[in-house]
Amino acid sequence: MAGSSSLPGPRHVAVIMDGNGRWAAARGLPRAAGHREGAKAVRRTIEAAIDQGVEYLTLFAFSSENWRRPAEEVTDLTFLLKHYVRAELAEMHAQGVRLKVIGERERFGPNLAGELAAAEARTANNSRLTLVMALSYGGRADIVTAARRAMQAGLAPEALSEDVFAGFLSTAGIPDPDLLIRTSGEQRISNFLLWQLAYAEMVFTPVLWPDFTADDLAAALAEYGSRERRFGARPA
Ligand code: FPP
Repeated sequence: MAGSSSLPGPRHVAVIMDGNGRWAAARGLPRAAGHREGAKAVRRTIEAAIDQGVEYLTLFAFSSENWRRPAEEVTDLTFLLKHYVRAELAEMHAQGVRLKVIGERERFGPNLAGELAAAEARTANNSRLTLVMALSYGGRADIVTAARRAMQAGLAPEALSEDVFAGFLSTAGIPDPDLLIRTSGEQRISNFLLWQLAYAEMVFTPVLWPDFTADDLAAALAEYGSRERRFGARPA
């Protein structure tokens, strides 16, 4: 919990928000209804993360593979994102949330890309929670883009180290996630933060994303607290 002096909780929690479609199907509703309910869970989780002392929250809101979904669903998701940023920005700003977007935002068109940049600029000096939104994000693309940037910067091969390379990734300056949560019972990384998740603890919960609550976040943090992180070393 915030301010607690017990075992340190995860500084950075990353979430693969999965199960919106199944949540809707179970109720005989269109998938868009599941995504709308998923957006409410996003709001809840941001508040819960702040309350529970998380410093960085990364949400996989749209993968580079999600463009392959039917045009109608892509339109629904894009609309929801735009609406979310417009409706929630003032509240997020008031809560001290700093927004950072990773992924190919320009694929959503200049309007949304511009709004996202403006939202990042407006919240840039906030420090209570850094909310990283992964939009049209793919882990492999992140790594390839970083390699390209390193080459463009004229980096000598012997100057490249893991730390230097990490500085070319979209997450430069953000600590690696300590904990990855995936909802809906699936147990895959799905091309999320491939480099950055190297040593993350993983918690998979059967809860569908629209049902995810502050208690579910607390349970995942408690599970994290019971793990022994070794980073490849031997137990103490
Ligand atoms: C997975 O559910 C979720 C997504 C594809 C996108 C996540 C989007 C949201 C939580 C809502 C919008 C986000 C914001 C930030 C406003 P799925 O459709 O893959 O579910 P299924 O596996 O049950 O079909």
